[in-house]
Amino acid sequence: GAAVEVDISAIKPGEKLTAEWRGKPVWIVRRTPEQLAALKGLDSQMADPGNARTAYPVPEYAKNEHRSIKPEFLVVVGICSHLGCSPSDKFQAGPQPSLPDDWQGGFLCPCHGSTFDLAGRVYKNKPAPDNLEVPPHMYLSDTKLLIG
Ligand code: FES
Repeated sequence: GAAVEVDISAIKPGEKLTAEWRGKPVWIVRRTPEQLAALKGLDSQMADPGNARTAYPVPEYAKNEHRSIKPEFLVVVGICSHLGCSPSDKFQAGPQPSLPDDWQGGFLCPCHGSTFDLAGRVYKNKPAPDNLEVPPHMYLSDTKLLIG
């Protein structure tokens, strides 16, 4: 499929933009410094913190702690790796129904309760086997992202 160019200049910290690529939703989340700082402390709760067993090849440029090219911007396919539902935004930190007590923000799949952090990494002991897919992408400029 054709690559998709996305203007990311209007995404505010803590917000998400959804683009479409090959008929799939691609989420671009601009993480706050607090959200980024929280990622490392979550490693022990993740099923695959280092992207070792993901079904999708993680691009070299996303094989890092924040799973992205620019730390601030997460770019992932918004489809649960269990049975393909689209997880909901749960960006607010703190205790909430169906979420871990020390929730730091992320996504909750409404179908069978899989939870993902703000790097798209799946929590342990959840039905989803893999982290969210990082699609091939690159930056054309500070404000233009090319997906595909
Ligand atoms: Fe997401 Fe089952 S489809 S948990």
